[in-house]
Amino acid sequence: MPKPAKPAKAPRKPAATPSPLSSTQTLRANARKRIEDGAITPGYSADRKRIISLLNAALATEWVCVLRYYRHYFMAKGMLADAVKGEFLEHAQQELAHANRIAERIVQLGGEPDLDPDTLTARAHAEYKEGRDLREMVKEDLIAERIAIDSYREMIGFIGDSDTTTKRMLEQILEQEEEHADEFADLLDGWIGK
Ligand SMILES: [Fe+2]
Ligand SMILES: [Fe+2]
Repeated sequence: MPKPAKPAKAPRKPAATPSPLSSTQTLRANARKRIEDGAITPGYSADRKRIISLLNAALATEWVCVLRYYRHYFMAKGMLADAVKGEFLEHAQQELAHANRIAERIVQLGGEPDLDPDTLTARAHAEYKEGRDLREMVKEDLIAERIAIDSYREMIGFIGDSDTTTKRMLEQILEQEEEHADEFADLLDGWIGK
């Protein structure tokens, strides 16, 4: 006599995996802890002091770049001066906007932006080079941009996903520094005269 067919087994339920997301209850409870920290919640896992210190070095760099670009803007003379002056001024304003975004983020993280002019150049990565003529100004600006590019890239790598807001801000600034460097490399490439 043929064996009666076994009843099909009910499919086994997969073991419940713990959710990577916090429950509403946990979210609500955490938000009530240390409310004086504002945007920095207990879920913030980055090394806040280290990030503030990195941002202060970037802030010093941006300010040195603002000052150098303004100096170049006012001192530019020669055949190409009119065209290049516009670039110097635009970059000065964009570096200032970078500085202000960085200072705001430092405050959000509970730190203080260090704008002490006595120590600015020593704390900055880029240098304040006046340049003897227009071409040397552009060359020094290109070098400063390349310094900024490398330092931002390293900071982004260090921060990783531990602080995505800071990382995103630095990525946006880096993108603009790359544009600046590219513009000056093009200018030097097609340079006519001394
Ligand atoms: Fe900048
Ligand atoms: Fe720049």
